[in-house]
Amino acid sequence: MVSSRPSSKPLTVLGIETSCDETAAAVVSRAGDGSGVIRSNIVLSQLAEHAAFGGVVPEIAARAHVTALDGVIAAALRDAGTEWDDLDAIAVTAGPGLIGGLLVGTVTAAAIAAARGLALMPVNHLEGHALTASLTDGLAFPYLLLLVSGGHSQFLLVEGVGRYKRLGSTIDDALGEAFDKTAKLLGLAYPGGPSVECCARHGNPRRFDLPRPLKGSAGCDFSFSGLKTAVRQAAEANAPLSDQDLADLCASFQMAVGDVLEDRLRHAVAACRSSPDGSPGHLVAAGGVAANLYLGNRLEKAAAALGLSFIAPALELCTDNAAMIAWAGALRLVEGYPATRFAAARARWPLDETAEPVIGAGRKGARA
Ligand code: KG4
Ligand code: ZN
Repeated sequence: MVSSRPSSKPLTVLGIETSCDETAAAVVSRAGDGSGVIRSNIVLSQLAEHAAFGGVVPEIAARAHVTALDGVIAAALRDAGTEWDDLDAIAVTAGPGLIGGLLVGTVTAAAIAAARGLALMPVNHLEGHALTASLTDGLAFPYLLLLVSGGHSQFLLVEGVGRYKRLGSTIDDALGEAFDKTAKLLGLAYPGGPSVECCARHGNPRRFDLPRPLKGSAGCDFSFSGLKTAVRQAAEANAPLSDQDLADLCASFQMAVGDVLEDRLRHAVAACRSSPDGSPGHLVAAGGVAANLYLGNRLEKAAAALGLSFIAPALELCTDNAAMIAWAGALRLVEGYPATRFAAARARWPLDETAEPVIGAGRKGARA
């Protein structure tokens, strides 16, 4: 099993996640043998509140978290059949993310921890994503993680709890953001990822010759803003767009993204193999974009060609949730990271603190 201390005492942890547009709480137990059980996992999406704006509005998100969080926590405890006394700790996302939402989560968690005499464990949201495969698949370290969501696009080598090496990251837009912006400029519904994937199903992926940014270049960074601009130019050149034009554009966009991911994956694996830290046997995909079936298939094939197995946790655990935060908190406690009384919210918090800062933006700022 995954933990380096498999025979530690069992733990039950309440997780709280409010870093973006999902208000989430979950109860997760870690058994003495190191295995994990999700006892409840409540995610209240704010999609409807933000849909009219075509993206997440930070102020609306923070207010919605304030309104919903108490009820979501109560539902998580109820679903799990857990009393406060059954809990060992509260784990809360302290960053990176939208500061208003993070403040709601961290202040709530600290207040409950103080009132109930529970340990408090601040968790990096990216660490939650990074450790999910150890919860769902009992995956042993090290493994390669491709994290692709609305706010992040990066390759990480997950070496152990608290030990992450960022291999590459986006220098401009996150991949989910590129899907969302592409959908918006084509007049497709928000969130853009599922809309683009659906529209692409009947399209000809070879009709539009879109760029493959950074393909073939050294390293495994990403760049997606030029691709989105190329879609805009093709859309303008072919306006007004028929349904077939839209499908062809979406399919061409997705194929370009697939080509880029494959190429970057090859470089990420090569970087791992040439490093003294060793070579991962698995590729894990996480984040909302990992829900894309076309890209998942391409990644699975590319990973197999490189001798890696491919793991994509179930969709509800790929996208933002609190079970991953509770699990990361439990693993940190097992590894001896100290519990705290307060959790300072951090809008920016790179998982690999030793990595060079990246230049670009991403929907929630230069997050990692
Ligand atoms: O991980 P997530 O739920 O939230 C964060 O951004 O942290 O990811 C949401 C992102 C959105 O940009 C959405 O458009 C994208 O994931 N997404 C997809 C698909 N489903 C969601 N992108 C491509 N294809 C999909 N099927
Ligand atoms: Zn996320």
